[in-house]
Amino acid sequence: MELPQHLAIIMDGNGRWAQARGLPRIAGHQQGVRTVREVVKYCVAAGIAYLTLYAFSSENWRRPKEEVEALMSLLATYLDNETELLTRNGIRLNVIGDMTKLPDNVVTMLRKTMAATATNGGMVLTLALSYGARDEIVRATRRIAADVAAGRLAVEQVDEDVFATYLDSADIPSPDLLIRTSGEMRISNFLLWQLAYAELYFCSCYWPEFDVEQLQSALDDYAGRCRRFGAIEAARAEEKENSH
Ligand code: IPE
Ligand code: IPE
Ligand code: MG
Repeated sequence: MELPQHLAIIMDGNGRWAQARGLPRIAGHQQGVRTVREVVKYCVAAGIAYLTLYAFSSENWRRPKEEVEALMSLLATYLDNETELLTRNGIRLNVIGDMTKLPDNVVTMLRKTMAATATNGGMVLTLALSYGARDEIVRATRRIAADVAAGRLAVEQVDEDVFATYLDSADIPSPDLLIRTSGEMRISNFLLWQLAYAELYFCSCYWPEFDVEQLQSALDDYAGRCRRFGAIEAARAEEKENSH
């Protein structure tokens, strides 16, 4: 069965899940962390090589201070608790997004966890934190412009492959499958460049109630998709590799 090499997930609906139960939004985020654990373990067992989770967008800074603080503290606790489990499962932690905006304690925890898992050879778990695709593309463009201005890069050298090396995602392949929970059918500034040929899968349940059966349904659905990358027939493996 065809498995996505890279699965990306927009984990959405924590707040609505909580509100529907008369709970504060943060209770939904707490429950969402449990789903993250389950999904991570299942992806490792299934043989997914890259899993990318949209955990906090560059626009989520617009939320009330209390919610942002609660999310940052949940994140720090998650990283603190999870390092051992990540290592036991051979997982390497990676981050995309604008780290400069994150609180110092979160950055410290991220650095520590990334260093502790750097030599793990299994699944690469990428957290998108303070991540916005437009912001990522602008930051990449600035660095390209700086390299051109400094004479390190010629304008003619800038093509799709070179551009991709300036993105936060330089070391990971493009997602094959994108799942978004909560019934919203939009991308919300996630991996705009990288999702060009991803298969999209939307499911109506809120993230805290998303489970491995639903994940498996998404993987089954993906296995039945026909990916053409602009050609007439289904792409062969080597063509997929050459596409971003
Ligand atoms: C997703 O759930 C988690 C984050 C964006 C941090 P939401 O917090 O967006 O939950 P809803 O969409 O308001 O229900
Ligand atoms: C996208 O969800 C960001 C994350 C899941 C981290 P949002 O809930 O922030 O997106 P919108 O505002 O509904 O588009
Ligand atoms: Mg939301």
